[in-house]
Amino acid sequence: MNRRTDQQRDRLAAHVFVCTNDRDSDYVCCADVGADEVLEAVKAWLRDRNAFWSPIGVSTAGCLGLCSEGGTAITIQPRNEWYADVQPEDVPDLLESTFGPEAERLER
Ligand code: FES
Repeated sequence: MNRRTDQQRDRLAAHVFVCTNDRDSDYVCCADVGADEVLEAVKAWLRDRNAFWSPIGVSTAGCLGLCSEGGTAITIQPRNEWYADVQPEDVPDLLESTFGPEAERLER
């Protein structure tokens, strides 16, 4: 085991997790309501501001417990921000409200 907490703390200001859970079930899952498009919108917004992956990480996640027919679930950590019903067109406002218009709010 290799503890790399210090390295990641130096690199990352925040991490955006996008639920892309896909399940074969009667219950809706994010994969059924546009998760891939939301994930791409998150990456594109951060890339446009040169903030993708460092200092703002992006990962897919399993079920975040916010399943909804209205859209995808997102959490931003360690800020403890949680969103449900996210559509791709919501992503710019969502990320701007957290990180600022140019992803400049990177306080840890
Ligand atoms: S399947 Fe995405 S929050 Fe449950």
